[in-house]
Amino acid sequence: MTILVTGGAGFMGSNFIHYLLKTYQDVRVVNFDKLTYAGNLENLRDVERDKRYSFIKGDIANEGDVERVFQTKPDVVVNFAAETHVDRSILDPKAFIMTDVLGSYTLLEAIKKHGTGKFIQISTDEVFGSIEKGKFTEESPFEPNSPYSASKAGGDHLCRAYFRTYGTPVIVTHSVNFIGPYQYPEKVIPLFITNLMEGKKVPLYGDGLNVREYIYTEDYCRAIDTIMTKGEIGEVYNIGSGNEITNLELTKKILAAMSTSEDMIEYVKDRLGHDRRYSLDWSKLAKLGWKPEYDLDRALEATIEWYKANESWWKPLKSGEYLEYYKKQYQNS
Ligand code: NAD
Ligand code: DAU
Repeated sequence: MTILVTGGAGFMGSNFIHYLLKTYQDVRVVNFDKLTYAGNLENLRDVERDKRYSFIKGDIANEGDVERVFQTKPDVVVNFAAETHVDRSILDPKAFIMTDVLGSYTLLEAIKKHGTGKFIQISTDEVFGSIEKGKFTEESPFEPNSPYSASKAGGDHLCRAYFRTYGTPVIVTHSVNFIGPYQYPEKVIPLFITNLMEGKKVPLYGDGLNVREYIYTEDYCRAIDTIMTKGEIGEVYNIGSGNEITNLELTKKILAAMSTSEDMIEYVKDRLGHDRRYSLDWSKLAKLGWKPEYDLDRALEATIEWYKANESWWKPLKSGEYLEYYKKQYQNS
């Protein structure tokens, strides 16, 4: 079985490739990635000599690149490739529209032409917008509030339309926030851990009371595996964990785990259009036999340990281009 993983050099894509190679002996994994700032082949250094693994550099929004990668005749395509950081989408939305909308379209067109067994669209709870109480189900309407979530929603709508119109074998998945190793240190958890390791303060947006739900990498990879093997074509599955927490509580947990005082919190201006809360009902996925194993404390402990042990992985990422971006983000705060 050949599995094409797009965006496999990113955070969750590389975790998923590790998971596949560990879980299945008889698998061929093709990693197709543009290597943007978020793509890092260091994440896969340990498997690069594995004969079951190969890497092809390319852009999911480029027809020629996509045509080339489909010569590998994938049985399954899992589309992790995306621009993913909300703050970057606020500064400059274009790359998000190109990759998350046009890229999804280009992959769907290639599947229309070449065929594949299943196309799994990796998407987010953010397409549903913000919810103060209760949970979003798979039937909730899309009400995206950022250029990132609007672009992801565009890609997801195309998936639905290609299934309805052409019978393209699509499954769309919406997940809560990821936590775990190899996450680029711009997202809140790795940013805060690495800032504290560098003796810097942690910038908490607004009142710090926005709520997010977190799922650990291993649990998430098992969820995608469950959907890949047991999910029904044309269906949508939410992936959640129940691990909900405000940003302030999360920050306090990180500070305590790193034996640092709350003086290290710096309240900064709020993110534009900042969604208050996300929360997913994942009972449909539970019916396929999946459930998460990590609670937030265990996930956080494992993640902090990983960043402490892998300073040489994240240190170079917090310089140069990253600092430039960070400066722009906070220039008026
Ligand atoms: P990431 O930002 O760490 O990595 C994205 C990867 O995609 C990088 O390797 C990058 O080089 C690659 N890429 C970007 N544009 C590309 C293009 N045009 N062609 C080919 N490759 C390209 O991503 P992540 O945080 O691991 O997220 C992976 C997926 O999961 C995304 O689709 C995201 O929307 C979704 N998601 C993320 C989270 C989260 O908390 N991070 C939660 C729910 C869903
Ligand atoms: O919900 C799923 C989404 O989770 C994914 O689709 C996105 O790709 C992923 O980036 C993530 O989006 P969030 O905006 O929720 O994640 P982020 O880590 O950027 O922020 C989490 C919360 O922390 C959010 O309420 C904003 C806040 N925050 C973030 C940063 C970077 C801060 O308070 N300070 C910060 O410096």
